[in-house]
Amino acid sequence: PAPGWSLTADVVVVGSGVAGLTAALRCEAAGLDTVVVTKARLDDGSTRWAQGGIAAALGEGDTPEQHRDDTLVAGAGLCDEEAVRLLVTEGPDAVRRLIDTGARFDESAAGELQLTREGGHHRRRIAHAGGDATGAEISRALVDAVRARRVRTVENALVLDLLTDAEGRAAGVTLHVMGEGQHDGVGAVHAPSVVLATGGMGQVFSATTNPAVSTGDGVALALRAGAEVSDLEFVQFHPTVLFLGPDAEGQQPLVSEAVRGEGAHLVDADGVRFMTGQHELGELAPRDIVAKGIMRRMREQGAEHMYLDARHFGAEMWERRFPTILAACRAHGIDPVTEPVPVAPAAHYASGGVRTDEHGRTTVPGLYACGEVACTGVHGANRLASNSLLEGLVYAERIAADIAAAADRAGGEYHARVPRPVPSPQEPEHPLLAPETRLAIQRIMTGGAGVLRSAASLDAAAAALDRLDAEARDALHQHGKTAEPGVDSWEATNLLLVARVLVAAARLREETRGCHWREDHAERDDAAWRRHVVVRLNTDRA
Ligand code: SIN
Repeated sequence: PAPGWSLTADVVVVGSGVAGLTAALRCEAAGLDTVVVTKARLDDGSTRWAQGGIAAALGEGDTPEQHRDDTLVAGAGLCDEEAVRLLVTEGPDAVRRLIDTGARFDESAAGELQLTREGGHHRRRIAHAGGDATGAEISRALVDAVRARRVRTVENALVLDLLTDAEGRAAGVTLHVMGEGQHDGVGAVHAPSVVLATGGMGQVFSATTNPAVSTGDGVALALRAGAEVSDLEFVQFHPTVLFLGPDAEGQQPLVSEAVRGEGAHLVDADGVRFMTGQHELGELAPRDIVAKGIMRRMREQGAEHMYLDARHFGAEMWERRFPTILAACRAHGIDPVTEPVPVAPAAHYASGGVRTDEHGRTTVPGLYACGEVACTGVHGANRLASNSLLEGLVYAERIAADIAAAADRAGGEYHARVPRPVPSPQEPEHPLLAPETRLAIQRIMTGGAGVLRSAASLDAAAAALDRLDAEARDALHQHGKTAEPGVDSWEATNLLLVARVLVAAARLREETRGCHWREDHAERDDAAWRRHVVVRLNTDRA
């Protein structure tokens, strides 16, 4: 439908996690008129849920080069080395600027940052806040800073599609907004620079650490706009998610790797530590190796989960160092002070996303992406723990610098372009899916494209997803029926699109690498597969 309201700005940032708010603050500081639009409230994204912390070479004896080496090993041969170099060298100052913005990290009595370890790190280099509430503190600080400045915000605003001008350059976004007074209904923000910072797509699976809002909206928008998307097959499964039963669905409580970083042990049903001897870092091996170790032992024992044993921490350490996790476990009737915690892997992070260069530019001019929605190349086949908040910070700053430079170069010519109308998902080519399709997609994906995959499981998933798509198209074209426009139906529609592309990429990659684990191709195949699966949808708009 035609937008019922519109705003004009220099920059529109879509999303309000660490990446989006950092980009917005830096753009505003550069004198750019900046609007942030976000699907729920400003602090409702994944950032708030981050526990372990933010990785940077801030400790004595640590260097960006050591951080780089750990990142490259975790990435299993597919990292972009220049993107990683920028991340680790600019990271420490980016964290210091975050502290200047107001984030308070845990410090020793001497005022030094306290640093912990997580999987794949050879050093203590993870800064944390509130013990295990790092994301919540970062979110608080950034939201406070945005509210204190001249950044305009529109909440409850689901992004629909990219607007482009006659040359195919980004010209803004269309949005569906509920409950925001003058901006209610379908509207648009017109701006020559669009920054996607919409987060991840964990909700494509049944059990995930991601909040309900992580439905791949940014990747779906980028695909519909003709942008390139890369590495979607690399979905990271966090090894230690609180196990709440085999049928648990939706967001599940995370048990941070930092718990292992501080000395917790992974044990099987017989109380045996099974990661020792599998990797030089044992329980602190990179995340994909620990997730595989857990799955293998679960299969051997016919068990639904393993255990994380940190009874030796004692009550005082649990309360001081991991208050969030302690409260979540106790809320589910488990007391980590007196019993081992049942854990199993669950979907956690999309290492792939919208392909960008080192300035965060996508392949559509004027469209940028940063944070989990982006594929900058820093994560390769498996993200190193706690590199995601850092990536959001560093690349958001790089994007703001690039936009500010473009605005400077353009001088008075830098203004909102005239957009041309774009098809929305509810128009005939793109039927809207009924909200309940979300559950069907999640079950198909967990069954066929989860932590362990094969050609047979992926073929079955692809066929089932194709059927959902065909049913929606038939309903529209034969019976003129489509779901009511609304956040739930657009989310289901976006989930189906990203799920289909993810499965297509996973079918192509006939090897095991990083977090992509193929039962039928158990080895890494550098000769054939040291390359990326890049997808671009055919579109007459780009
Ligand atoms: C955790 O705290 O274990 C999560 C850290 C991350 O995903 O980087």
